[in-house]
Amino acid sequence: MRMVELIEKKRDGKALTTEEIRYFVNGYTAGTIPDYQAAALLMAIVLRGMDDRETGDLTLAMAYSGEVLDLKDVAPFVVDKHSSGGVGDKVSLVVAPTVAACGLPVGKMSGRGLGFSGGTLDKLESVPGFRADLSVAEFKAQLKQIGIVLTGQSANLAPADGKLYALRDVTGTVQSIPLITSSIMSKKIAAGADAIVLDVKVGSGAFMKSLEEARLLAEGMVRIGRAVGRQVVALISDMNQPLGYAVGNILEVREAIDTLHGGGPADFRDHCLEVAGEMLCLGGKAGNTAEGVRLAKETIAGGRAWEKFRQLIIAQGGDVRYVDDPARFPTATIIETIPAPQSGYLAAVRADEIGMAVLTLGGGREKKGDPLDHQVGVVLHCKVGDKIEAGAPLFTVHANDPARRAEAVQRVLRALTFSDVPVPPLPLFYGRLA
Ligand code: URA
Repeated sequence: MRMVELIEKKRDGKALTTEEIRYFVNGYTAGTIPDYQAAALLMAIVLRGMDDRETGDLTLAMAYSGEVLDLKDVAPFVVDKHSSGGVGDKVSLVVAPTVAACGLPVGKMSGRGLGFSGGTLDKLESVPGFRADLSVAEFKAQLKQIGIVLTGQSANLAPADGKLYALRDVTGTVQSIPLITSSIMSKKIAAGADAIVLDVKVGSGAFMKSLEEARLLAEGMVRIGRAVGRQVVALISDMNQPLGYAVGNILEVREAIDTLHGGGPADFRDHCLEVAGEMLCLGGKAGNTAEGVRLAKETIAGGRAWEKFRQLIIAQGGDVRYVDDPARFPTATIIETIPAPQSGYLAAVRADEIGMAVLTLGGGREKKGDPLDHQVGVVLHCKVGDKIEAGAPLFTVHANDPARRAEAVQRVLRALTFSDVPVPPLPLFYGRLA
């Protein structure tokens, strides 16, 4: 088989066979297929798509590029959640410890930043010492001991996704239903969870811009999950503005810490409670989602979710003094609040542009393997529907470089639209598939 023929076949809109897909995934994982050929095939997939059979084959080839965990010897029932990618999406940092604190083990393989969207692992690595590269043995031992793991792909766990994800991030090949489906579901299959809640985002700060696309993505992922014997629920959630107020690694960790202490922005807290409620329901800790939401709320209020988060940080080598006292986190050298240029109602936010502004500041990667600046980011001071007076604080930029700061400020200003007439707030969710 020759890689160039696979690229040409997909370029011409033809379906790849199961063997061809395996050849690509195994060759790229082993390093025998170079980045430039893999990137060309990924772009052909973005432009030409894949049918259901190809997407299923790609998912399984990626899942089986490493070990597929059987967790029965460490936990009787494990739940997981995954987001299709958004801006300010720090949901896993709150939901995973909350659910685990209710006695339902959470074994989760997360991702890094992708395109304009942030990544849970990058956020967690803001905590000095935190390790996101656990081996299979470490994953299992930690799940058994404290009932929570948040790690990334490793040489043994979905290594194909680890490599393809990093390549997609910097080659404009993120926005594709088959590539997102296979990336998410391969990790979920490899990590061995019995039940999965998928948080499928739609809107300006999501990879799916329309409800129709989001439904297609959700349906495809639910189908694949079911085909491999997992219980799956998909929520379709709004991403027409960042979730919460903070976008940027340390800033988001701090917002998640506030939320675990019972505070935090209302939209972010309510979103987390709903996802946690679904997970608790799937795991049999609640009879329905509303009961699950209640349980999650009590678990946060009683401090048990926070205690579980601390256990997670300690178990994975993080310096817990930082999360205990977030004032220890280093801050950017330039912290500047930008006033509203006019009075009115915040009508719309290009959340992808806010994500790109943070990338411009150094909070994301331009090239594979680029180091991140964890300190930088943007904190908005209003949500869609809020009334703002000219001159009132609109957003705060955290930067370490004056030129980047200027570019990011312009991007954020361009991303915000005002209206003279009242605008309704955005909903949190648009639908649920089970
Ligand atoms: N999250 C993933 O893990 N992969 C994607 O492709 C998008 C979001």
